[in-house]
Amino acid sequence: MNGQEEWHNSPIGVFDSGVGGLTVAREIMRQLPNERIVYFGDTARVPYGSKSKETVTRFSRQIVRFLETQQVKAIVVACNTASAYALEDLEKEVDIPMIGVVKPGARAALSATVNGKIGVVATEATINSGIYSRYIEEHDSSVSVIGKACPLFVPLVEEGLWEDPVTDEIARRYLAELIDSGIDTLILGCTHYPMLRSTVGKIMGEGVTLVNPAYETARELKALLTEHGLESEHRPGLGTELYRFFVSDAADKFQRFANSILPYGILSARVIRIDEF
Ligand code: DGL
Repeated sequence: MNGQEEWHNSPIGVFDSGVGGLTVAREIMRQLPNERIVYFGDTARVPYGSKSKETVTRFSRQIVRFLETQQVKAIVVACNTASAYALEDLEKEVDIPMIGVVKPGARAALSATVNGKIGVVATEATINSGIYSRYIEEHDSSVSVIGKACPLFVPLVEEGLWEDPVTDEIARRYLAELIDSGIDTLILGCTHYPMLRSTVGKIMGEGVTLVNPAYETARELKALLTEHGLESEHRPGLGTELYRFFVSDAADKFQRFANSILPYGILSARVIRIDEF
């Protein structure tokens, strides 16, 4: 471990089941430009959204162990499914401050809603976990939450069909019941869905506020770092790698996707054997 003096200049670990968490990493890069990031995408074992709690927790635990070897000072679980299924257990197991994407997203939705009807679109696992409804209703029992799993959204985003007639058609079908329910706020509760923001926005109409948990997570991460005295004091000097990317498979594909959404080109992503951690 670094001496306490340098510890706050250590990187932040960010992980996801694959490329989706890059939407969260992008927000951290924007809002916390002094922070270094070590990103891990579990590209060999994606998707998490159709797996059990036990499996998602086991995978997430291995990733946290890997990130600990990178001497991260905080961990962002940039995957809604892992936040829903694994975060609570992992927080008890490690000392490093951790933050997921679910609670920041839920809090943002609570402050956005006027009519007290919030929708959530997410993976099957996140919807089945009931975490968004539980958290929101615990905080305000007068608010109701309507969840809808949209399993085809992830492959559509990964195929680059962010704005496409096929995506429009599928989104219309998924979103019909949310429109009928009269929600005024919709949480994009999966890392990939911010890429479909304009499609979803067009279908839901102007009266519905879309919440991107990535934005709120970066804001709350800043507060968490301050609370623990862990904010990096300055942008790392020349020669220090600001962002490092690791994956469990298919580094080239990851790199192409990263280069399509990050504000700069990434030079490499290293493949590691995550099952060894
Ligand atoms: N990252 C996942 C999430 O936010 C979506 C992709 C997957 O199913 O693994 O829930």
